[in-house]
Amino acid sequence: MARFGFFVLALFLSACELPQENTRVKLPEPESEGAQMVKKFCSDCHAPPSPLAHTAKEWPNVIHRMQERRRMKAYELMSEHELGVTLKYLQQFAKSV
Ligand code: HEC
Repeated sequence: MARFGFFVLALFLSACELPQENTRVKLPEPESEGAQMVKKFCSDCHAPPSPLAHTAKEWPNVIHRMQERRRMKAYELMSEHELGVTLKYLQQFAKSV
């Protein structure tokens, strides 16, 4: 139980450090499609963020801003499907308040 608490704390702390380099972010359900998408599309410019960085309500704005940042850098854009899966994943494990 104590270890779990530490894990949550670690996620939370790493979320606060964005966009600084932090390669120790542990994504929940790392094998899931959503986690793979975050690793693929959210680690080009900074360490992949913890879903706990935002609430489910906030994530859509953030992810669309990041898609814009991909466009500005001429990176391959997330398809509608990829963006949807990534957003769903971030919202599933989002901060609750
Ligand atoms: C093309 C580069 C790039 C990619 C790819 C990228 N980001 Fe970012 N991200 C940035 C930059 C630059 C900032 C700092 C300025 C800002 O907040 O817009 C940032 C900041 C952030 C922040 C902290 C600011 C906030 O609003 O909380 C979060 C969270 C974040 N990104 C999430 C993501 C997610 C999720 C993805 C993948 C879907 C992603 N980023 C992909 C460039 C990128």
